[in-house]
Amino acid sequence: MTNQTNLEQDQPRQQPQFDSNEETTHFGFKTVAKSEKQKMVANVFHSVAGKYDLMNDLLSFGIHRVWKRFTIDCSGVRKGHKVLDLAGGTGDFTAKFSRIVGDTGEVILADINDSMLRVGREKLRNLGVVGNVNYVQANAEALPFPDNTFDCVIISFGLRNVTDKDKALRSMFRVLKPGGRLLVLEFSKPILDPLSKIYNFYSFNILPKIGEVVVNDGESYRYLAESIRMHPEQDILKQMMTEAGFEQVNYYNLSAGIVALHRGYKF
Ligand SMILES: C[S@@+](CC[C@H](N)C(=O)[O-])C[C@H]1O[C@@H](n2cnc3c(N)ncnc32)[C@H](O)[C@@H]1O
Repeated sequence: MTNQTNLEQDQPRQQPQFDSNEETTHFGFKTVAKSEKQKMVANVFHSVAGKYDLMNDLLSFGIHRVWKRFTIDCSGVRKGHKVLDLAGGTGDFTAKFSRIVGDTGEVILADINDSMLRVGREKLRNLGVVGNVNYVQANAEALPFPDNTFDCVIISFGLRNVTDKDKALRSMFRVLKPGGRLLVLEFSKPILDPLSKIYNFYSFNILPKIGEVVVNDGESYRYLAESIRMHPEQDILKQMMTEAGFEQVNYYNLSAGIVALHRGYKF
């Protein structure tokens, strides 16, 4: 892995260029060429990697730990299982699953971004999480694993950054063993109107300011707020998972739908 974080930070964000025939997608509220989105997402995570964990605690008031605890409780992961922590970033899930699966199991922390992987690997080594963990730089859309490999795939706050979400869901389905389950933890649509108003104000006015002060990068946190609004809401994501092949797909709204945990099985 190269030391890309500082290099990327020094470069100005590029405005996307695309001709009208090129396929487009969303990068937050911007419409960009599909080929550009991955680079733009990469810039965001190269920029925030060093302070990602601190910002997670700050911005969610520590509540992301409760969402993650609930997700683990729904995972069905046991000793000896093989788990893929996809878009795993700094490895919160890898650390927890590593302890659960034990010596006879394995956890793979996969992420497209080498800065996030580097921070994750360092953190997990400092926590003494070694032995049954492996690190792979991979794109969720084209997972470099054989069919039927994992008992559980978890993608936490990652799917909304992926350019082709349907392709990624199909790829996750392929690498799961029959009987395995996919967990998608992601920001979603709040189900209470008054909460939505406060949440919108917080997301678009306060969150980028905290990003500006702590990471010197308000833009990345504006993208975070925008990407949450553009992400498919609960029932649409459920439908997408079903279309990718998953069965018994269901979701739990957490913190009144600010976040949702979707779960689906491969039979
Ligand atoms: C918000 S972080 C989530 C990290 C961690 N899963 C967590 O819950 O704290 C999103 C992660 O998704 C990764 N990511 C974005 N697009 C990806 C892709 N196409 N394939 C794999 N990882 C991707 C980013 O590099 C980043 O590390």
